[in-house]
Amino acid sequence: MGDTRWETPGEGDRVFTGVRERFPLGALRRVGRVPDTVAEVKRSVNIGVLGCGNVGAALIGLVEERADDIEARTGLRLEVTRVAVRSLSKERGVALPAKVFTTDAGEVVGDDDVDLVVEVIGGIEPARELILDSLASGKAVVTANKELLANHGAELFAASDDAGVDLLFEAAVAGGIPLIRPLRESLVGEDVSRVLGIVNGTTNYILTKMTEEGWSYSEALAEAQSLGYAERDPTADVEGFDAGAKAAIIATIAFGRRVVAGDVSHEGISGITSTDIDFARRLGYRIKLLALCDHMADGSIAVRVHPDGARPAPPRFGSRQLQRGVRGGDAVGELMFFGRGAGGLPTASAVLGDVVDAAANLAKATHASLGSFAKAKVRPIDDLHYRYYINLEADRPGVLASVAGLFGTNGVSIRSMEQQSLDERSEGGQARLIFITHDARESDVRATLAELRGLDTVTAVGSVLRVIGTD
Ligand code: HSE
Repeated sequence: MGDTRWETPGEGDRVFTGVRERFPLGALRRVGRVPDTVAEVKRSVNIGVLGCGNVGAALIGLVEERADDIEARTGLRLEVTRVAVRSLSKERGVALPAKVFTTDAGEVVGDDDVDLVVEVIGGIEPARELILDSLASGKAVVTANKELLANHGAELFAASDDAGVDLLFEAAVAGGIPLIRPLRESLVGEDVSRVLGIVNGTTNYILTKMTEEGWSYSEALAEAQSLGYAERDPTADVEGFDAGAKAAIIATIAFGRRVVAGDVSHEGISGITSTDIDFARRLGYRIKLLALCDHMADGSIAVRVHPDGARPAPPRFGSRQLQRGVRGGDAVGELMFFGRGAGGLPTASAVLGDVVDAAANLAKATHASLGSFAKAKVRPIDDLHYRYYINLEADRPGVLASVAGLFGTNGVSIRSMEQQSLDERSEGGQARLIFITHDARESDVRATLAELRGLDTVTAVGSVLRVIGTD
């Protein structure tokens, strides 16, 4: 190989021709020739991991298990040399010497021997500051932090470009299912118009158990919590915040416009009942919490997360199987991605893929730039059209005419209606009314629902689902 000249800040120019020479990759700035292949110069890559929960611990195990093979394929020797944890006494099942661990994440970020930082602590702070510090000191960063990216992505992407090192985040969106890289690399030549899919494993598990085992919402949630899928406070998952953050990231990458979490309209699944599941089944739908990202013909972008009656039922819907579809332009048509989108190991697998990529780029003193995105023109959900499923309880079947009348005056056309007595002993008493509408504008349906809630005879307005798919 020819000489490769690197400049290391503080050390002046150095000529580097060694094989397996220990070198602070992150501090390098290329001033000479880029090696033709990564394998041309074998490199040790020291990884600092921030957080050692499910994903961090799984990643450490995977690095250990896969290091030889990765080295054989890429010439890069990966090693986890520092790990920041909240408590030093907790047993984590990872085979690393005690000296690797610290409770001071800043120590990992400030360690000159660390080339690449993996952030799996989650949340906004201190993750944001730690990532910015890592990038500023020339360390590549791999993160699984969707909340942070969905709120501060632009700042982080700019910091990555300024530092000339990678910020990669495949694991933030679909765990083990590759989606970000296909969207940002393989499909960059496509005019992607829609990305639609299930992006939250916890709610998918709950809805699957309600549908297939007949469990109630609370039974399914309790089981999801005992299996470690759902947090003790499940709000982020069941109210759609997690899926909303992922949808913002997907839309940004798919459409090349900046979409943040606050641009995403989201609803959760905590109001879904066994009755909804049963009715949906009879109508040929499965209830799924879907994220829908659309690039409209006028250039605006609509991103929302809500429970939907999906029809036809998705082809794969196992309890932890997530899936998403991408509608490309004329060239590629529709694509479908599915697999294990959540959980420690699948997420760690996505992190490791990014680690190898980022390490290879460090060795070549290059990085994958996302560029800067203009702010998206966001289409409010009020302007969108769907068919709706609406579940009401009324205090006697005779209210049908007044209820149906309200739909009509708000411009919402009823496609079908089913009435079920909730009081078997008499013709009067409580009745459940399930309406399916024709395509209607969201704002008209919201106005209808508000007026229905105001009727004395309507005792409850239950679930409202958008119906997705064709009959
Ligand atoms: N809580 C998330 C889920 C984890 O259930 O999908 C993966 O982002």
